[in-house]
Amino acid sequence: MSNENGKLQLDGKEFDMPVMSGTIGPDVVDIRKFYGQSGAFTFDPGFTSTASCESQLTYIDGGEGVLLHRGYSIEELSKDSSFMEVSYLLLNGELPNTDQLNDFSYTISRHTMLHEQLATFYRGFRRDAHPMAIMCGVVGALSAFYHDSTDIADPEHRRISSHRLIAKMPTIAAMAYKYSTGQPFLYPDNDLSYTGNFLRMTFGVPAEKYEVNPVIERAMDRIFILHADHEQNASTSTVRLAGSSGANPFACIAAGIACLWGPAHGGANEAALNMLREIGTPDQIPHYIERAKDKNDPFRLMGFGHRVYKNYDPRATVMQETVREVLSELKLKDPIFEVALQLEEMALNDDYFKEKKLFPNVDFYSGIIYSAIGFPTEMFTVLFALARTVGWVAQWNEMISDPGQKIGRPRQLYTGPEARPFVPIANR
Ligand code: SDX
Repeated sequence: MSNENGKLQLDGKEFDMPVMSGTIGPDVVDIRKFYGQSGAFTFDPGFTSTASCESQLTYIDGGEGVLLHRGYSIEELSKDSSFMEVSYLLLNGELPNTDQLNDFSYTISRHTMLHEQLATFYRGFRRDAHPMAIMCGVVGALSAFYHDSTDIADPEHRRISSHRLIAKMPTIAAMAYKYSTGQPFLYPDNDLSYTGNFLRMTFGVPAEKYEVNPVIERAMDRIFILHADHEQNASTSTVRLAGSSGANPFACIAAGIACLWGPAHGGANEAALNMLREIGTPDQIPHYIERAKDKNDPFRLMGFGHRVYKNYDPRATVMQETVREVLSELKLKDPIFEVALQLEEMALNDDYFKEKKLFPNVDFYSGIIYSAIGFPTEMFTVLFALARTVGWVAQWNEMISDPGQKIGRPRQLYTGPEARPFVPIANR
């Protein structure tokens, strides 16, 4: 997959810049030999123009609003498949047949329980601890309990730890919510679907039988599909960089959770609903749109804009449809949804947003759904992390099984002081 063209002139010298082409999408200029030949680094803070790896998992065309997982569109996957099917697809490269799906779902369901001592970890946190802090701590601690699957050179260990992480995230997430409410933890019920099990562990109580609402189960399963993977976003790049040093998979996923927590990334769903609630009523929208455009005001429209999508995030389209479905099923009229719809309408017709190609992203509507179902805002990014775990794990596996994989170690443009003699404190 390599073209020979590409030249770069520097200090009067000419350097060959081999160009590589993928299956679809932009070509890449292979700069791996450039520093050795030229003595100069390339410079790309925030990696806005840098391909960090080769991958076969997910393709995004930001200009066209296209998202493919192993070639299948997010629109078709979210409409016609399940989160377990998409998880199998991301891990194995092909959609499963019925037997493969049943085997995979059975395997995942047999890893849903946590080591009983992990439950005591929760009691070390304050009841009002942010559940993302709990997720970082508990997931990072998994390697202390499951070190029988941390030899990353062993494909079987990688397979087991991948399944453990995918299976245990709903249990860990539900326990984080239960702990904040003072209600007892519920053990998984493996007669339920992956998503139904999560809903029951979250909203069920030991005193009553919990009936999974199939419409809510389907909506949550679809939302998990929308969040499963997204190319080399910040948290996935964090997982890859952590994994490149040979760190165990549980530590790598804990690093990904920590990065996802940021409001510019996965934390935006919590921030977006808080923003919509702060706006409160449609008549306040123009004021907030002006604030978002004001360079001197740090306020941004949370859930808007994207590093890659310069068109409508296809996930946001499905998310908006799911809001209508959930509100109708629960017979709820959420005035905040009306604010969100009018905010989107006004922003998309505003020259500032049109010129900067700022559209709603996956986080703009998700909080309305989560809130309607009963999740507190602090749990929103936890739900994102739960679903993104399969993407992180699939990307981690792809990297570790690449024979050419090496530790990630970027360089820098140094603008600090030149070498200078130490000054004893008496002379400062
Ligand atoms: C996710 O990478 C992924 O794939 C992430 C994700 C995934 O699935 O993993 O899709 C999930 O993280 C979605 C994004 C969630 N974040 C938010 O909704 C937070 C609000 N959005 C922004 O912070 C911002 O849009 C980012 C962080 C998402 C993208 O930032 P970039 O690509 O670095 O762009 P930028 O910040 O340089 O903005 C470009 C311009 C700037 O204006 P100028 O300096 O050029 O004048 O657009 C402006 C920004 O000020 N801008 C916004 C804006 N987002 C960008 N102005 C108002 N409101 C906004 N939301």
